Amino acid sequence: MGDLVVCEKVNELRALMSQLKADGNMISFVPTMGALHHGHISLVEQAAEIGDFVVVSIFVNPKQFNNQNDLLNYPRPIDEDLGKLSAHKNMIAFVPSEEEIYPADFEGHILDLGTLVKGQEAISRPGHFEGVVNVVSRLFDIIEPDYAVFGEKDYQQLAIIKYMTKALGYDITIIGADTIREETGLASSSRNIRLNEEDREKSTILFKALSYLKQEAFKTEFDLSLIRARDMIKQSDLKLEYLDIIDPDTFELVYDWIPGSRACVAANCGDVRLIDNLEVVPKGAFC
Ligand code: PAF
Repeated sequence: MGDLVVCEKVNELRALMSQLKADGNMISFVPTMGALHHGHISLVEQAAEIGDFVVVSIFVNPKQFNNQNDLLNYPRPIDEDLGKLSAHKNMIAFVPSEEEIYPADFEGHILDLGTLVKGQEAISRPGHFEGVVNVVSRLFDIIEPDYAVFGEKDYQQLAIIKYMTKALGYDITIIGADTIREETGLASSSRNIRLNEEDREKSTILFKALSYLKQEAFKTEFDLSLIRARDMIKQSDLKLEYLDIIDPDTFELVYDWIPGSRACVAANCGDVRLIDNLEVVPKGAFC
């Protein structure tokens, strides 16, 4: 198969998946909400390296938006997205309607996400991760991939997906892919198209603050470094929402330079909400 296959119906995709699996193919999956940028394409490329066929879903999931305006304004350049995917081999785009994903008898999984939803994005966006769990588990049930690739830029989401996969017993390997950055360090995001040149420059303060923490680990006292990193953003033109250092598996706050700890940040540049994160202490730091 060389040409992009576009499926809109669940039954159609299920039949295709059965046929490909019966022929011995491994399936990789990249869930997206469209508006594909080079960060997504890099996920697609990683997925293509490990699977024989890649399914990319494009579905703006209403259940994960707690702000109706954000949902209405979410970019949906579907023709451009399909154009980008058609450049790749063995690619299947799944572009379902809301009715296909959430039929009238749809029952989502209710999972206790524990400490994973006690801070950061879970506080800023109540119900968001429950919506993500609903849609990703539904997509996993339809596609039954061998691998699923998620960007580390949404690190809390990645931790929740790993937890969900284990808790619901999916036989799927979850791959976390490095955040793709612009030359300035700004993390690639669908929302960046709403930033003008000046805003993009201002927004580099997020990666600067995260990099500062990484550089100061063990050299400067933990609390002092965190205060200074927060001040860097507070003194910029961005409005800081949070800058926390957390345990990457539980998302609980850490209070010292612990191996594997990760700094996570959210801030607003005008009305564009940006998030980013960086491992500030290597996992094997004490080994
Ligand atoms: O990361 C995203 O784009 C979305 O949260 C996802 C995983 C596609 C679920 O809608």
